[in-house]
Amino acid sequence: MTFDNKPLPGGVGVEVIGLEVNGPVASDTAAALKKLWLDKGVILFRGLGTSPEVLLELSRCFGELEPHPIEHFRLPGYPELILLSNEKDLTGPVYEFDGVPTYGRIPWHTDLAFATTPNAGALLRMVKKSEHGGQTGWLDTAMAWEALDAATKQRIEGLEAKYVFCPDLSAMRFNRQKGKLLQPTSKSLPSFPPVAHPLVWVHPETGQRILNVSTLNIQSVLGMSQSESDALLEKLIAHTLQPQFQYIHDWEENDIVLWDNRRTMHSAFGHPVDEVRIVQRSTIRGTVQMGRVIEEEQQEQTA
Ligand code: SIN
Repeated sequence: MTFDNKPLPGGVGVEVIGLEVNGPVASDTAAALKKLWLDKGVILFRGLGTSPEVLLELSRCFGELEPHPIEHFRLPGYPELILLSNEKDLTGPVYEFDGVPTYGRIPWHTDLAFATTPNAGALLRMVKKSEHGGQTGWLDTAMAWEALDAATKQRIEGLEAKYVFCPDLSAMRFNRQKGKLLQPTSKSLPSFPPVAHPLVWVHPETGQRILNVSTLNIQSVLGMSQSESDALLEKLIAHTLQPQFQYIHDWEENDIVLWDNRRTMHSAFGHPVDEVRIVQRSTIRGTVQMGRVIEEEQQEQTA
């Protein structure tokens, strides 16, 4: 074993210690890292160096990498990495929160919750941190499931919810953000049809049950009246967002955080728009379809 690990503060995730990556990772080390990822859901790596190649070599331990479906997010020259930056131009929206023009705020979500096959995971590296704000949070939705009362577990097992692509925070139905839109996104974005996913995912690799309530995307429970569905989802989301299921990371430059996207949600807290923040990210391809596109006639029933 060429590395050790210790729990992150608060009980969600671990930090890997003593790992070096100078090229392709040896297969026994890669297998041990993958096992740790599936066991813990969130892993912090510090001090692995600054090159995109290191991020790519580490990322390949966890599966096949997937170029982001929205091309303008990709890092030039590295199609398997995305670049999120406000250094040169502002492609994303600017919101005012508490009087501060803020960039990069993304509420709690699962990546590709609006697709039928969510990605398996992702690795995010801090290239340049902003002076203020800029934290990223992770939330263990397997822990949230475990902590639900038995009656609610029984009630929601087998239910499906509708999830949509949500390019604008004002389109969120739950966990609404109080920010005022100052500048909309400058890029035109593709559209995606609504999808249905089980409210309780069964993790395709570990068999764990997961409370699947990606707050950016979830709209309603299929087959329920809007008021019944709203009441149920409000309750499940309030339960899931409790601090004991969260790890909030205050970044150092070159930290890398890996997460299991099937078993966690994450949130970018945003930072003052006039402070530069640059991150790079790889995406581990999902291999198992977990949801389905909602047929048009069903969309009318759930609108
Ligand atoms: C992401 O959601 O992948 C971005 C998180 C961040 O910028 O902190």
